[in-house]
Amino acid sequence: MKNIVLIGMMGCGKSTCAKLLGTKLNRNVVDTDELIEQRTGKTIQDLFASEGEAYFRDVETQIAQELAKEENLIIATGGGLPLREVNQKALRENGIVFWLKRDPKEIFLTGSMDRRPLAQQGLDSFVERFHQREPYYMQAADHVIEDFSSLDATAEEILRHL
Ligand code: S3P
Repeated sequence: MKNIVLIGMMGCGKSTCAKLLGTKLNRNVVDTDELIEQRTGKTIQDLFASEGEAYFRDVETQIAQELAKEENLIIATGGGLPLREVNQKALRENGIVFWLKRDPKEIFLTGSMDRRPLAQQGLDSFVERFHQREPYYMQAADHVIEDFSSLDATAEEILRHL
């Protein structure tokens, strides 16, 4: 079976939703940020601080290409992963891609942004980053999910598309 791939802004609920889907479908769940941390032995914050974003993005691309060869997985991606076209292609190669499109203001105000290096410049910058990314998410996605009444409802909505 094809992978189920969740994309969207940092903090929108991809990881939690991926775990719910993993339980509902009895499939393994992976998180690209966790794979990057395992591979580099550093937290995302440390990696950004010591090696810089460009290095992080290159590891992210390697991981995306490796995951393209897998199947049956639920994949939660880092929020910036779909910005590179090569990553979009990799994810779609063997996966169905869902964009969790959630209001950025709500994400920022209700989520935990402490451990996210690209969310440290305040609300306006976060919302602006979301709008810059929208076309990439749109291009990468097979389906757009907008029901966030609860993360369970979000997961159910994804299941309806399968
Ligand atoms: C990023 C999102 C993060 C992580 C890194 C960069 C981004 O993942 O990959 O901090 O560019 O949006 P989450 O979406 O899981 O927060």
